[in-house]
Amino acid sequence: MRNVIILGSQWGDEGKGKIVDLFSERFDIIARFQGGHNAGHTVYIGERKYVLKLIPSGVLRPGKQAVIGNGLVLDPAALLSEIETLEKAGVAVRGNLFISNRAHVLFPMHRLLEKMSEGRPGRISIGTTSRGIGPCYEDKTARRGIRIADLLDRDVFRAQYDSVMAEKVAIARALDIYEEMDLAAIRDQYEEFAERIRPMVRDTAALLNRAILDGKTVLFEGAQGTMLDIDHGTYPFVTSSSASAGGACTGTGVAPTRISGAIGVAKAYITRVGGGPFPTEALDGEGDLIRKRGNEFGAVTGRPRRCGWFDAPLLRYTAAINGFDTLVVTKLDVLDEFETIPVCVGYRSGGCEIGEMPPGVAELASIEPIYECLPGWKTPTFGMTCYDQLPARAKDYLAFLEEQAGVEIGSISTGPERNQTIVRPESRLAKLLA
Ligand code: GDP
Ligand code: IMO
Ligand code: MG
Repeated sequence: MRNVIILGSQWGDEGKGKIVDLFSERFDIIARFQGGHNAGHTVYIGERKYVLKLIPSGVLRPGKQAVIGNGLVLDPAALLSEIETLEKAGVAVRGNLFISNRAHVLFPMHRLLEKMSEGRPGRISIGTTSRGIGPCYEDKTARRGIRIADLLDRDVFRAQYDSVMAEKVAIARALDIYEEMDLAAIRDQYEEFAERIRPMVRDTAALLNRAILDGKTVLFEGAQGTMLDIDHGTYPFVTSSSASAGGACTGTGVAPTRISGAIGVAKAYITRVGGGPFPTEALDGEGDLIRKRGNEFGAVTGRPRRCGWFDAPLLRYTAAINGFDTLVVTKLDVLDEFETIPVCVGYRSGGCEIGEMPPGVAELASIEPIYECLPGWKTPTFGMTCYDQLPARAKDYLAFLEEQAGVEIGSISTGPERNQTIVRPESRLAKLLA
């Protein structure tokens, strides 16, 4: 049994897409378990750039199967456009991609409701990706969501759609925020979408469990990151899904007893997009330098990402939540020019050192990071593929992160391309992939 979870250990954009694409060579099936087209995973293969939003990054490997699990919210228009873009670029998607019949369907109304709630006076703005993800998960939890299986049954769909939309229009009108929408035309369009996605729809929990019984291997691909998880993240500045390891089980229907390990992806520093507390944010020129060197702009919205220093207490927290066996540290090369590199090793709150991540946004926003400054290596590491090639100070930096996080660093990424990666031969990571 070699079924492994890969997910983000910070606030997303850790470079999961590149790592999933690289490691997917060793697995038969790659399954996404949560989120929607709020995710943006950039993968470079040679000269080509791919941005995956809903489709697992593993689809880029010929012969691999890709699964969109029940834990996702799916905008059929976004899915079909992504398939079209990938197929135009020569990627064989149809025939290799399977969509859960239990995933939830996202409608334009979800986007409208999100726009209205984000903009309402007095409401805390989360700084979402404006894709309608939150309102779609709200419907799921409120037990009025429409699932792919419902969409494929025209009578069931019509009845559910009309009733759900009537309720939403009434609420939007009562709040005086309704914007005219041709709901009947949207319903017709979704019926067309249904026919186009029907050949890809499966009971993916059954598909995955059967494959595992047959000895096939599954790589579970997380979107977002643990600090954006609805339960464990910096609530309410989170996304609406389970982006941590538990989500791999609930979002695919594969039991924890069938999963052998969890790999955390962490940047060598840290970024966040949107609002919310960020203790190690570098609000000075150094933050700008990270942004520039790391090209830290959102793949989905193009927003500049907030940048800051590696936060070891945060990583200890997410390592515990996910039970990471090993870490992949990405974008080490981005730090190549820094004279010194601060690393947060603890927090102080109200004058006292605190050992645990506070749950309250106000306390999180006011905690003071305790830094240790490490000397930079000031030599290029870009593209390195072998641990021994790394400058001594870069190795010291990684050893410090490893010690502080309490998890081995099994792999280091030194550039956006597949081959710009180091895998340490004797690591737990190498064993998980073997
Ligand atoms: P994801 O959402 O976790 O998949 O990450 P994104 O794709 O949104 O953002 C990561 C960005 O960093 C992408 O543009 C990648 O091509 C790029 N990237 C990934 N790993 C490295 C690396 O080691 N070095 C550099 N310089 N860029 C990287
Ligand atoms: P990947 O998979 C970084 C952030 C948004 C916002 C919050 C809620 O590329 O790592 P949402 O639209 O999900 O309701 O927004 O979550 N967010 C991400 N930040 N990477 C992502 O995905 C994100 N997906 C959502 O910026 O703060
Ligand atoms: Mg991203």
